[in-house]
Amino acid sequence: MNPIIRNVRFSNPSISTFDRVSTDYFSGQYDAAKVGVSQMYLENNFHTVIFGDVLDVLQHRVPDNSIDLIFADPPYNIGKNFNGLKDKWDTDEDYLAWSYRWLDLCVQKLKPNGSLYVMSSTQFMPHFDIYLQKKMTILSRIIWHYDSSGVQAKKYFGSLYEPILFCVKDRDNYTFNASDILVEAKTGAKRKLIDYRKTPPRVYNSEKVPGNVWEFPRVRYRMEEYENHPTQKPIALLERIIKVSSNVGDTVLDPFAGTFTTSFVAQQNGRNSIGIEIQEPYIKIGLRRLNICKEYNGEVLKKELRSFETQQTNGQLPLNL
Ligand SMILES: C[S@@+](CC[C@H](N)C(=O)[O-])C[C@H]1O[C@@H](n2cnc3c(N)ncnc32)[C@H](O)[C@@H]1O
Repeated sequence: MNPIIRNVRFSNPSISTFDRVSTDYFSGQYDAAKVGVSQMYLENNFHTVIFGDVLDVLQHRVPDNSIDLIFADPPYNIGKNFNGLKDKWDTDEDYLAWSYRWLDLCVQKLKPNGSLYVMSSTQFMPHFDIYLQKKMTILSRIIWHYDSSGVQAKKYFGSLYEPILFCVKDRDNYTFNASDILVEAKTGAKRKLIDYRKTPPRVYNSEKVPGNVWEFPRVRYRMEEYENHPTQKPIALLERIIKVSSNVGDTVLDPFAGTFTTSFVAQQNGRNSIGIEIQEPYIKIGLRRLNICKEYNGEVLKKELRSFETQQTNGQLPLNL
């Protein structure tokens, strides 16, 4: 039996009614016949926020071969707390079986020249990698490296990176706007070394396509872009991915939208976006960040003030507890 799909289209939306999605979905125990309700919010058809389960939404709402770029940053099965729900499956096999289902759907939804970026935890990425090798061409295995004063392993080497796979459906036909993401090449730009293999010899290029180790700071509490979410990804990371692997007017899909960083960056860069998220508080962040509506169920959508901002607005001195 198919889930009930209710399609809500707003031209100038102020959202009033809402159906809660069963949180059973979260643990991968999804039974479409049970509840199967998802809701959709649109801004001029360019940006779509979908409140629902990834499997349900991808299967029933997104046409096959329709998406130019997918950025998937799923729960990592490491026990993070997403609004009270732990991202931990009963067994690793359950987690992988669930992951393979949405990975298959992502491949199905991509256009023949589309690209997929997938993140995962260091321990599960090898499984994703082996699985995806059978379906796509993996062009890069990227390390997103960051420093963290919070990781203080004393008896092993603490983890300071997250892996990202960059895969394409057709290795001979995909978007890669190299000139839009160039970084400084120190040999030419700083050290001014001369390439004597050239006639006449000349200074090495001062810019290059970045390699597969990317260094971007994680989103910290005091940063302007911070939202209340445990695993928000930095705007800079998504900027690189969206600029290089999509064109203006393309559609970028994020099946685990969280704070809707992907959709936000897509909007800033003239791409269309679809973001899917199962948690209502994060849907509210997305609606606000994309400026889709000012109110949700009668609640004015405002960015939560952080402790240091509250202290400033109250005109009080910071508490030293
Ligand atoms: C790692 S976070 C994504 C963070 C996001 N990239 C950002 O920058 O904010 C994973 C997100 O997937 C959502 N999620 C978990 N299970 C889901 C499901 N079955 N369908 C849709 N979203 C789900 C979680 O609520 C969480 O916000």
